[in-house]
Amino acid sequence: MPIETTAAVVAEVPQDAELLAVPYSSDLTPALPFELPVPVAGLLDHHEAKGEPGEIVEVPVTRGDAVGRVLLYGVGDASPKALRKAAAALTRKAKGRASLAVVVPDGDVAVFAEAALLAAYTFKIGTPGKPAVGTLTLVTPDEQAVRRGRRIAEAVALARDLANTPASVKNPAWLAERAAEQGVPVRVWDEEQLQAGGFGGILAVGRGSASPPRLIQLSYTPDSYDRHVVLVGKGITFDSGGLSLKPTENMKTQKTDMAGGGVVIAVLGALAALGARVRVTGLIASAENMPSGTAQRPSDVITHYGGRTVEVLNTDAEGRLVLADALAYADSELDPDAVVDIATLTGAITVALGRNIGAVYSSDDELADALVAAGQSSDDRLWRMPLIDDYTPALESSIADLANVESGSRFGAGSITAALFLREFAGKRPWAHLDIAGVGRSTVDEGIVTKGATGFGVRVLLDWLTRY
Ligand code: BES
Ligand code: MN
Ligand code: ZN
Repeated sequence: MPIETTAAVVAEVPQDAELLAVPYSSDLTPALPFELPVPVAGLLDHHEAKGEPGEIVEVPVTRGDAVGRVLLYGVGDASPKALRKAAAALTRKAKGRASLAVVVPDGDVAVFAEAALLAAYTFKIGTPGKPAVGTLTLVTPDEQAVRRGRRIAEAVALARDLANTPASVKNPAWLAERAAEQGVPVRVWDEEQLQAGGFGGILAVGRGSASPPRLIQLSYTPDSYDRHVVLVGKGITFDSGGLSLKPTENMKTQKTDMAGGGVVIAVLGALAALGARVRVTGLIASAENMPSGTAQRPSDVITHYGGRTVEVLNTDAEGRLVLADALAYADSELDPDAVVDIATLTGAITVALGRNIGAVYSSDDELADALVAAGQSSDDRLWRMPLIDDYTPALESSIADLANVESGSRFGAGSITAALFLREFAGKRPWAHLDIAGVGRSTVDEGIVTKGATGFGVRVLLDWLTRY
């Protein structure tokens, strides 16, 4: 189980809770079912607690013949951001305990539940480590909000699981099987069907691997809808770089190079339960990028879906090659109102924005604004990056329609030129590209994230898609 905790919702404070968490803030004195050794104000004073989110004061209390514990926790300004921090801190504090009951503060109960559950995420193959809190009981009348928070957290956990799974287990066919478990119709193109369909980019990237590539399509169709959105995910189940081989240090994180595809699978699986009123088609362009005697070579020219040719100057710029086919297919066959792709596309975006904020590029201001706003409210924060037209000559080729990377370093801007490459295949429709290479993985266990895959993208896309 990715989220180890079982969650329950109750309306009344359970009198027998082993560990009871109660919010405090300057204007709130909690009503406690136990006698405290010292009045609340004195306790907080003693611990120099200011009521900030993430702050927890543990107080032993008498419970019959035993010692019980109360966790007084800060909620700051009770904003969604503060509540997320407070909730995650509580779950982490209760790690290894059998149960925790939390009196939920006023405010956004869904984000509180979501964060409390995400902080209980673990991924371990082998002897289990210290388990998360066994049972989390949320004391709140708003069961529906908790259900929403839980559904979102589960989708994030699925995306994390998919990305954390080693590449010895996960290959494109495996990813297609996981997609088929989401309760929505799935269509999968195998190698022969990709050939017949003219998906030259996906095939070229997959050529060096013993595990053949796949294009995976998931379809969510509500009873009634006005708009159709296509989500495209990069599904590279391992990125060795291909013949343009990565050094070990850079390669060892590349099992998560299908994180964008995993996000698309998880989002499609959650839309029905969240009552989304928009039609959504998910496409995952999946291949394993390996060097071998059958691998594509730097200098090969490939033909993408739709007929455009690309000179492959670096086989490690493979994400754009698989995405190009899927974007061109979406534009010519699916007639969407908007297309959003999500990909661990460039190391360069980590240099630009770091590990906490994802990049959004878009040809459409309204779409960009909507995604940035959804990022803000869902906590998968996005920063809009520019599609700088002056840099398009970076992708000129002397022998093909385009090159997949700049030869030389006149322009630089690796994440921007990658986005410009994708734009060539997205057509004239509103299109956005999320570069999640920086945020797809965490190097620390902290708050709602666990070391390894983060599932970044699930929350922002679900937030955006459930606003229609
Ligand atoms: N999958 C990588 C990008 C990546 C890097 C993701 C680090 C997560 C962490 C991508 O396919 C890649 O190799 N990009 C190259 C592009 C370059 C060859 C133009 C890069 O960023 O170095
Ligand atoms: Mn690569
Ligand atoms: Zn890659």
